[in-house]
Amino acid sequence: MGRNLGLLLGFCSLIVGVAVADWNILNQRMNKNGLNITLKNYCEAWRINVELHNIRRFEVVPEECTDYIGKYMTSTQYKVDSEKALEECFIYLSNNFELTGDGKDAWIFDVDDAILSTVPYFRKHTYGGEKFNITSFEEWVRERKAPVLEHTLNLFKDIKGKGIKIFLISSRGEHLREATTDNLFEVGCTGWSGLILRGNEDEGKTLQQYKAEKRKDLISKGYRVWGMVGGQWTSLLGLPKAMRTFKLPNALYYIP
Ligand SMILES: *[C@@H]1O[C@H](CO)[C@@H](O)[C@H](O)[C@H]1NC(C)=O
Ligand SMILES: *[C@@H]1O[C@H](CO)[C@@H](O)[C@H](O)[C@H]1NC(C)=O
Repeated sequence: MGRNLGLLLGFCSLIVGVAVADWNILNQRMNKNGLNITLKNYCEAWRINVELHNIRRFEVVPEECTDYIGKYMTSTQYKVDSEKALEECFIYLSNNFELTGDGKDAWIFDVDDAILSTVPYFRKHTYGGEKFNITSFEEWVRERKAPVLEHTLNLFKDIKGKGIKIFLISSRGEHLREATTDNLFEVGCTGWSGLILRGNEDEGKTLQQYKAEKRKDLISKGYRVWGMVGGQWTSLLGLPKAMRTFKLPNALYYIP
């Protein structure tokens, strides 16, 4: 009986193994349209469709793509892709922006994966292959060791230099204010006009709802929100919007 069960389990895991890894030894397979694709093709298609916001609410990066996503998020390509997005901010600012001097011109940045990188955390958690664990993530945040994304910091300084007020709106909780401020100061991100974090009253709200409400607060105080830079679609969507939004690449996680 025990032996039969063992055999049965062995047989089932063999089937599961085949179903998950139906890539040949060269990491190729024929897809349903008869196209021979590589695992790299497959994972790049997954990644780009996250960026296009066709893939939503994913809880984990597909197991077979965690290596690929990890490589991308630590690659020169990731840096170049981010730089390109931010270069578009520079272009937008130089073509459309006239400072009114009334102190009401504003710009919004996300914190995680816009100014501070969470890649070191996700490196220890299979690059998004594990379900997001808020407890261990917040432990990591409290270490205050998130590295800065240099290209965003450069834009931040440029915008600040123009006299635009900068507001950081983060999905981090209010209890992480000190750790977040310390980390931002440590990497040279200073001179912002506000760091807005999730308070008790924001509990249970989706990220989109929460971020939109905070934009609404700023606008009702008379701010013109010229633009916004974020790493999550749900940060950028929802009304009222910033006049322009700039999405940075990030396929490690999705905050609904
Ligand atoms: C895909 O690869 C298989 C096996 O190598 C081959 O038989 C088939 O002709 C290829 N199909 C295309 C469209 O290239
Ligand atoms: C989440 O992280 C905490 C702290 O590292 C750990 O104690 C807990 O077991 C984790 N939860 C899950 C479901 O892995």
